[in-house]
Amino acid sequence: MRSEEIEDYPRYVDRRGTGSVKWDTLKERFGREDLVPLWVADGDFSAPRAVQEAIRKRAEHPVYGYAYYPEAFYEAIKTWQERRYGWRVEREWIEPAHWVVASLHLAIDACSEVGDGVIVQTPIYPPFLKAVKRLKRTLLENRLLLDGDRYRIDFEDLEEKAKEAKMLMLCSPHNPTSRAWSAEELERIVAIVEANDLIVVSDEIHADIVYGARHIPFATLPGMARRTLTFNAPSKTFNIPGLNTSYAIIPDDSLRRRFRMAVARSGLDNGNDFGIPALIAAYKEGGEWLGAMLKIYEENIVYVRDFLLEHTPKIRPLTVEATYLIWLDCREMELSDEELRSFFVEEARLALNSGVNFGKAGSGFMRINIATSQEVLAEAMKRLKEAYDQWERR
Ligand SMILES: Cc1ncc(COP(=O)(O)O)c(C=O)c1O
Repeated sequence: MRSEEIEDYPRYVDRRGTGSVKWDTLKERFGREDLVPLWVADGDFSAPRAVQEAIRKRAEHPVYGYAYYPEAFYEAIKTWQERRYGWRVEREWIEPAHWVVASLHLAIDACSEVGDGVIVQTPIYPPFLKAVKRLKRTLLENRLLLDGDRYRIDFEDLEEKAKEAKMLMLCSPHNPTSRAWSAEELERIVAIVEANDLIVVSDEIHADIVYGARHIPFATLPGMARRTLTFNAPSKTFNIPGLNTSYAIIPDDSLRRRFRMAVARSGLDNGNDFGIPALIAAYKEGGEWLGAMLKIYEENIVYVRDFLLEHTPKIRPLTVEATYLIWLDCREMELSDEELRSFFVEEARLALNSGVNFGKAGSGFMRINIATSQEVLAEAMKRLKEAYDQWERR
């Protein structure tokens, strides 16, 4: 369907001056203002109309008191999970939460002890590493292996690490590698989890942004419901991460009780006046918008990919199966991580995420966020090509 035929179409909007981390903190974070921001994982598109309307309606009432989670909140999550993934979630398995990163910390706190081994598959979204370290668990790094344009899991290493572990933290789909784990891969993980009696924390926040493949919630695999704490949110899907509203799905009573106690200890147990109606509206009415959004992402991925392959052969884009992020293999440029960062910021004038922040396994890589307009991407590619050509001439 073309854009003009879709009523609820994601529109690119200028976000400068709106208190946006991505657009308004460039000087502070990267040392200069004149950069095209293609870093932190939020997009530059308007949220679904129903979400905007739900927030407007709530805002019109002038009291912004403590909010509770109404039945419609649980219903919206249940319906979404069942429709999209065939997962029949029960009402009492759902624990409302603020943001996913907080829940990752709480899950580790709730389900393991200081010193316990926690497996993380690197390169990985940095808060996974930080949470394990902050909570003084033993970080067990299961490095992903780059095979052509795609990462795969090192199962032999995972089997070894699992022997020393209490918990496995999955990122499914995986940020930053943009892998959507296949049924075969997940089944092999299941066997290792079962054999070693592990608890699984599955961050599925990117589940709705997949291309072609169908996301499989880890907890739906045989025997996994009783071992898994799943975290999800409409925040990446509908571009509403600033509303800080997410949820956990924990089918096992004992794990759920432990998680709930950790939430109570943290004091994070009230809802957000705007996030709650936004989640309900997004899950109930955001389907058409999401379809259109995914098409835009796909076009942007192809555009950036083709451009890089043609013009910057030593910056190699990896295959994107999920997310709106492309992981760039820049190792052929033979720059240190500091030099690579400096090349992108000072020469290309682009703000990307440095791969090394995703663990040592990310050294020599950069992550680019393509959830923006074609015009912004075209400007970014133009800058990159100019800087790259100059760098090659040196
Ligand atoms: C895998 C993953 N988990 C969690 C988050 C952040 O979620 P939240 O804003 O709910 O903490 C991100 C954002 O980039 C992410 O990529």
